Amino acid sequence: MQKELFCNAPIGVFDSGVGGLTVVREIMRQLPNERIVYFGDTARVPYGSKSRETVTRFSRQIVRFLQTQNVKAIVIACNTASAFALDELEKEVDIPIIGVVKPGARTALEATHNGKIGVIATEATIGSGIYKRYIEENNENVNVIGKACPLFVPLAEEGLWEDPVTDEIARRYLAELIDIDIDTLILGCTHYPLLRSTVAKIMGDKVTLVNPAYETARELKELLEKEGLESRKRPELGTELYQFFVSDAADKFQKFANSIIPYGILSAKVIHIDEY
Ligand code: DGL
Repeated sequence: MQKELFCNAPIGVFDSGVGGLTVVREIMRQLPNERIVYFGDTARVPYGSKSRETVTRFSRQIVRFLQTQNVKAIVIACNTASAFALDELEKEVDIPIIGVVKPGARTALEATHNGKIGVIATEATIGSGIYKRYIEENNENVNVIGKACPLFVPLAEEGLWEDPVTDEIARRYLAELIDIDIDTLILGCTHYPLLRSTVAKIMGDKVTLVNPAYETARELKELLEKEGLESRKRPELGTELYQFFVSDAADKFQKFANSIIPYGILSAKVIHIDEY
């Protein structure tokens, strides 16, 4: 493909469901010239309670689908899939592919003063130990304490972002992180930024909350520039800037997406991801 055509190709972004839209929102802000093809695996969410093998198989199918859309780079906008599948997928594709874990870990390392970083994420991400390993490898004086918060995903998906039920559950999950005096907390699941105000209220203003989405979009920008792949002009009128695909329940996804990203999603299409 000619270089210019390739620069105008979209970026592929995927998640197990709607959580990755918090990353899409950030890419839209920081890279307004880029087209995006998003896939949310709404038929098979959650990934956070599944095995490495299953999450890697699902992620591989999604990458194959995104490649049929001629994407120029891929962002795994899911911590669980980044933790389990990124290393393998990197070896299998010949376009740049990044996850959300390393950018989030780097930001937390920059933010901490007392060397105590908390990570909240799915059971799979915490079980993989990826944040702990990555941060402690980069600075052995930093201590990382992980806490799985499995109920946060359904609460976020149900739209209960600020609700007494969410408040109560969050207080229970976060109590031990407050007790050990962390000063930085990574929102290590792409659904969790939706519950940010509840988490912030409970952790208090001495704790810096890290949303890996911001840093991921920044890393993507740097990567595209380094590879000479950035789109230099805004796509022409009529070009579909953002396209959304899901594996189930397109209407529900569309409604949800429209409530969290500042752009009218015209439609979300259902595809059979098992065929890829
Ligand atoms: N969005 C996923 C993540 O960042 C979590 C949701 C799920 O369990 O599928 O890990």
